[in-house]
Order: sequence, then C-alpha cells, then structure tokens
Amino acid sequence: MSQPYLVLGATGRIGSLVVRELSDRGLPVAGLVRDAQRAAPMWPSAVVPVIGEFDAPASIVSAMQGVGVAFISSPVHPEMAAWQCQAVRAAADAGVRRIVKLSGSAWTMVDGRMTTVGAAHAQVEAAMRAVQESGGPECICIRPNAFLQGILGRIGTELSAGDIFSLGIGPARVAFADIRDIAAACAHAMAASSTPSTIEVTGPEAMDGVKIAALLTQMLGKPIHYKPLEIHEAMARAKASGADDFTLRHQTEVLTVLREGVGERVSTDFESVLGRSPRTVQDYLAEVTSKVGGAR
Ligand SMILES: NC(=O)c1ccc[n+]([C@@H]2O[C@H](COP(=O)([O-])OP(=O)(O)OC[C@H]3O[C@@H](n4cnc5c(N)ncnc54)[C@H](OP(=O)(O)O)[C@@H]3O)[C@@H](O)[C@H]2O)c1
Repeated sequence: MSQPYLVLGATGRIGSLVVRELSDRGLPVAGLVRDAQRAAPMWPSAVVPVIGEFDAPASIVSAMQGVGVAFISSPVHPEMAAWQCQAVRAAADAGVRRIVKLSGSAWTMVDGRMTTVGAAHAQVEAAMRAVQESGGPECICIRPNAFLQGILGRIGTELSAGDIFSLGIGPARVAFADIRDIAAACAHAMAASSTPSTIEVTGPEAMDGVKIAALLTQMLGKPIHYKPLEIHEAMARAKASGADDFTLRHQTEVLTVLREGVGERVSTDFESVLGRSPRTVQDYLAEVTSKVGGAR
C-alpha cells in the first residue's frame, strides 16, 4: 500500500476540505484528530483517523511514522509556532517525503509590519527551509489571502435580518481567497509530482464593501447598504461570538493592516499552478443570496 497523506488540523475549515480533496483523488488519507467521533461525519469513510494532539508531542511523532506527505495546519494560537515547528521536526525525523504548510497571508509576514501570527508563520517557514536545506523533506508553503468565508461569513445572516451588512475592513479593498480554492491549492501541492515552493492564493479581484453592496443590490433586486465598522466595533462583535483574547489581538492587528490596503494585491499563482481561475466574490455572494431568498 502507498504511504498515506497525513493532514494535521484535519477537522478545521481548510484541513477538512484538504482531506476531501485528497480522498476525491483516490489517495490514501489519514487525518489527525483529537476526537474521532467529531471527525467521522466530516470526512469520506475511507479516511483513517489518527488520534493526536499538538500538546502531546509523542502523538505527533507517532502520527508521522510511515507517512509520505504531511499537511500542517493549526489554529491561531499562542503556541502555533512551537506546535508547527515540532511537527516539521517530527516529519523530517520520520522520513516524510514532502511537507505542505498552510501559512499566513503574505502581507502578515513583511519585515517591519509583521503581525504576531505572521511572525509565527515566518518562524515555521524558516524551520521548513532549514530541514529542506539539510537534505530533509521538500517543503511547500501555501500563503492564502484573507479567507472569503471568514470576513464575509456573516453577510447571509445580516441580510436575513435587513438590508445592511457590516465589515471591519473600512474602505479597504481585499482580494479575498475562497477557502475551497485554498484547500485545492494545498491538496495540489501535496499530490502533484512537482510544485513551486510557495503558492500565494488570492481571489481574482480586490473588492471593497461598497462594490460588494452594489453586487448584492443587483442580485437581490433591492438596495443593500455597506456599514463600515470601527475596529473596536468589529472586536466587540467577535468577543460576543466567543473569541478569546489572543484571537481578538490577532484580529485587531490583521484589520489594522488590511485597512492600509495590503490585502488588495492579486496573485496569479493559483491560476498558473491549478490551471483555472480562482472563485470570485460574485460566486460566493450568489450562493449566499440564494439562501436568503434570491432575486426578487
Ligand atoms: N482566516 C484567515 O483569513 C487566514 C488567512 C491566512 C492564513 N490563515 C491561517 O489559517 C490557519 C487556520 O486555518 P483554519 O481556519 O482552517 O483552522 P481552524 O478551522 O481553526 O482549524 C484548526 C484545526 O486544528 C485542530 N486543533 C486545534 N487545537 C489542536 C490541538 N491542540 N492539537 C491538535 N489539533 C488541534 C482543530 O481540531 P479540533 O476539531 O479538535 O478543534 C482543527 O482541526 C491559521 O494558521 C491562520 O493563521 C488564516
């Protein structure tokens, strides 16, 4: 039997889609989970659960044994760099052939303007380069722009209640990346015979709230308005949804730099590697509006 493709963070937004992408390609897939019962309904039945936990290093070492290609993703967390560097070392020691990491947005890792989490991703990327340069696994980093389904994730709920939606990005334009495209790039980087060492995933066009409101107005056949939130208002909303202090600090840093326009750059990496255009904001809004009543 060929060596399995191991996915860490396999029940997460991106990881669960990577599991499905790999499985759809007919590849043998294992997913690291803390709770196999929670994972089972998310995955195709052929996917093998491997019980593990970043805070239990021996479980990561054990999970890497016999693996061909490993995908590393973990949540935004104060221990993210430590967890991921430990996983990189475990993969290298186990003789894994290739490591693919879900990294940070490129603009969070720019010297002099790194966010806390961007610096953690940069630290893991450096650890990956070091193991590769010393003859270890080939290492590939996927750098996604802000997730479309993250920042625009509440639009459906807001439009069910009224004609206004609100975002914390102010007047900035952002080339949002659809999580399905991010997962497709990750799975491609794991499965392809050769792939660039860095793949930046963005949407095909940068959009601001006003343009999104215009698209929604057209789709729903009634005026839809954009209300830019101050950062403290966006954080109050995140806190009410249960975000912890580290996440609130992370989101504050991200929104602060996004509002400077850093997220508007469009990358052509996705199209050149995957051979198709990335999904658009229009595609996503069409899905959202079909659930809130569609065109009237
Ligand atoms: N949001 C954005 O716009 C954006 C943009 C660029 C990059 N990123 C990066 O994307 C990553 C997050 O991806 P995501 O949203 O797909 O993650 P996510 O949905 O938060 O999923 C996190 C995964 O990690 C697992 N996990 C959590 N704690 C664990 C532990 N102690 N041991 C083992 N597994 C654990 C979770 O498993 P359980 O089901 O057991 O909890 C889950 O599978 C971050 O590194 C972030 O910096 C995000």
